[in-house]
Amino acid sequence: MGRRFLWVDAMTNQSVRAVFWENRQVMLIDQRLLPGTFVVNGYATVAAVAEAIQTMVVRGAPAIGAAGAYAMVLAAHSSPAHDTAGLLADLRRAKVLLDDARPTAVNLSWATARMLDAAEQGAAPSVALLQGLLLDEADAIAEEDVATNRRMGLYGAALIADGANLLHHCNTGALATVDFGTALGVVYACAEQGKRVHVWVDEPRPRLQGARLTAWELLRAGIPMHLIADNSAGHLMRTGQVDAVLFGADRVAANGDVANKIGTYKLAVVACENRIPVYAVVPTSTVDLALADGDQIPIEERSSEEVTHIDGVAIAPDGVPVYNPAFDVTPHRYLTAIVTEEGVCYPPFAVSLRRAKAAAEVRIGEQRRQRRDAPGGGGVAQ
Ligand code: MRU
Repeated sequence: MGRRFLWVDAMTNQSVRAVFWENRQVMLIDQRLLPGTFVVNGYATVAAVAEAIQTMVVRGAPAIGAAGAYAMVLAAHSSPAHDTAGLLADLRRAKVLLDDARPTAVNLSWATARMLDAAEQGAAPSVALLQGLLLDEADAIAEEDVATNRRMGLYGAALIADGANLLHHCNTGALATVDFGTALGVVYACAEQGKRVHVWVDEPRPRLQGARLTAWELLRAGIPMHLIADNSAGHLMRTGQVDAVLFGADRVAANGDVANKIGTYKLAVVACENRIPVYAVVPTSTVDLALADGDQIPIEERSSEEVTHIDGVAIAPDGVPVYNPAFDVTPHRYLTAIVTEEGVCYPPFAVSLRRAKAAAEVRIGEQRRQRRDAPGGGGVAQ
């Protein structure tokens, strides 16, 4: 399978993922402290995981989804219910709390819905068996995320020429997912194939995920890059220094409109003006067929302090009014293609995305059946 982009924990000398389960806790790399400090913390309650998601200890749509799935296992463990009906009621309450933590990234409510569905469909005869079944499902979500990213990496890399200069937005790498990454996974796949790619890494304001996290990942992976101020992107595109623009997404509407980190729209428009291909790299878990277009995607607004302060230092006058939307919507007409784990979707996206989503649902259903039919399937949770 090639090189894996896992982090080595200095304390244990073990490789870790952005999200994993250990000793009945959800383990998360604290991404707020990077690049300066690498810390992995355990979270033992649903409320603690919801807060970690809200405060961006863990961020990136697929990573948030996996954290939410494991938090549903915590909900099952902490439930005082003596029967499965009571446990299901507690799971429904946990889902509401978790889904509220970050509203735009649909992977969160997708994962908690999938956990609830597994619990309801599993027909486990006891609370202990239902807990085991839920841990199996959360593990499956985490493992599938890695496999999905690998597949998207291969599909995406086929679109990128040797020697390409890529402009990448936000952080979509191993930190934003369980492992490997979405758009950055395409970059890693190119590197694994021996393609010499160079990445323009934008910051982006206000949380600086590119500067703090993507730059850190790419330096560790030894992939050629330059960090640029957000305002440099248009100049680079107009002067022929960008061959493709790559980003992930937090939610994609049925027509292909993409909600992603604030600033994505501006990049896509300038790329189209300069006839540069624009690729969104998106697992089907991010595609929300219930929403007809991007205007229906809820856009998360975050605190004014994210704009007025950097690392606790004020960069704006005290009391200044601030508007801080965390995401924007790029209309589908600006996208060349949407890369999914089921293949590359081209316009009309309303058709190609529906096909990809249907193929993924068949695959997930089949894998769940296989897990359940396997010897020891749906055992007692650890
Ligand atoms: O606010 P964040 O850091 O969670 O935003 C992350 C992004 O916008 C990513 O581009 C998106 O989640 C897709 S990456 C896997």
